[in-house]
Amino acid sequence: MNIVIANDHGAVALKTSIMEELRARGHTVENLGVDSADSVDYPDMAKLAADRFLAGGFDFGIVCCGTGIGISIAANKVPGIRCALVHDLFTAEMSKAHNDANFLAFGGRVSYATPVIDMIEKYMATSFEGDRHARRVGKLDGMRT
Ligand code: RB5
Repeated sequence: MNIVIANDHGAVALKTSIMEELRARGHTVENLGVDSADSVDYPDMAKLAADRFLAGGFDFGIVCCGTGIGISIAANKVPGIRCALVHDLFTAEMSKAHNDANFLAFGGRVSYATPVIDMIEKYMATSFEGDRHARRVGKLDGMRT
């Protein structure tokens, strides 16, 4: 798959490990995030990734900050982005099956019980179920912040 990723200074190590693991599995990853501990603002990083994704050519996006919270809120402010802050295999699966999420968010300072790459793999292996979920996602996309 073709994936765009961005992060702030709170998730450099997590971003790097996600990128390496995805590339090792044959995926293409475009890195728009920072690679140093110098402080940046997560809304700017979310906007970068969202705009790049919406320009086309990507299957989905990944955004990471210290908690994943701020950058997911920011990404969801961009019309057309449905960003899911997932924390286990169940929420990773449901984010695609029910919400048709096109962005995933993770926190570099969070202790996950499940490896982040496993959650991403689960998301990638899941299909959107459509039907009533399509109606709800349509309503989501009709909302404006
Ligand atoms: C940056 O210090 C931190 O606030 C940010 O990475 C994120 O956790 C915000 O939600």
